[in-house]
Amino acid sequence: MTTPRYAVFGHPIAHSLSPRIHAAFGRQTGIALNYTAIDAPLETFAPSLANFTDANGRGANITQPLKQRAVGLCHAVSAFARRAGAVNTLTRVGTVWHGDNTDGPGLIRDLTARHGLDLRERRTLLLGAGGAAHAAAHALLDAGIGELVIVNRSTDRADALADSIRDPARVHTRYWHDLADIGSFDLIVNATSAGVARETLALPFGLIAPRALCYDLSYGAAALGFVAWARAAGAGAALDGLGMLVEQAAESFAIWHGTRPDTDPVHDLLRGELPLHATD
Ligand code: ATR
Repeated sequence: MTTPRYAVFGHPIAHSLSPRIHAAFGRQTGIALNYTAIDAPLETFAPSLANFTDANGRGANITQPLKQRAVGLCHAVSAFARRAGAVNTLTRVGTVWHGDNTDGPGLIRDLTARHGLDLRERRTLLLGAGGAAHAAAHALLDAGIGELVIVNRSTDRADALADSIRDPARVHTRYWHDLADIGSFDLIVNATSAGVARETLALPFGLIAPRALCYDLSYGAAALGFVAWARAAGAGAALDGLGMLVEQAAESFAIWHGTRPDTDPVHDLLRGELPLHATD
């Protein structure tokens, strides 16, 4: 049998930090790892995963645009991945793949364990309704936030996300052009891909309640615009998603190897290399 293989699948994938993060976790825990990045557009994902399986693939991280497609390639998925409609972690169990979603737990762990924030009862604004927003919405509601208002450029996707959550007492949608009229929020999460596309969101300062926490699910340069807006508007904390990236990787590592690495050294190393020094 060849060496067990691990990989991250996505498209594009060249700039993924996952191989470095998992290599660092492996060194820290003394587990020898073969973890690579595999470029796979949606059309070739299934055959590419089949090749990986044949080459003794034991575990894989899945990133965009493949997270929704990955659900259908699993024999079984966790309850959270089912609700989020997305799988970011594949684990080989016997002859089949099991799917998990560690993005949600990774987000909550970064907010609560790394940054020491209490999420309970926070009035929350979620910007975006794509794949990233789905996992964030479910994780934040599970963590005890108060009202969740979902605002998306195209309203139908916001409505579809809200409907799928089935908690009409807590979850509402509003139009993007109403952002100036929906009050202020204790927690604002940017789950749009605008920053990745180097596009700017025009957001009113009035969205930010005193001591509000603003969090961008993307990291580094892609989060600069949102974080700069939050700081200018006087947010209590303005964070990018680097911590979430490292925490979701640690959750995947724990599923595969049965031990959870210490994320702080890896987080701090990568933070020093990125053009964003978050404050809290
Ligand atoms: P991801 O997996 O990163 O969530 P996605 O499923 O393609 O990617 O979703 C991207 C999200 O960013 C969507 O909510 C999208 O809004 P639409 O549904 O209206 O397309 C949002 N988005 C992307 N660019 C945006 C922009 N310039 N302004 C506002 N929202 C934007």
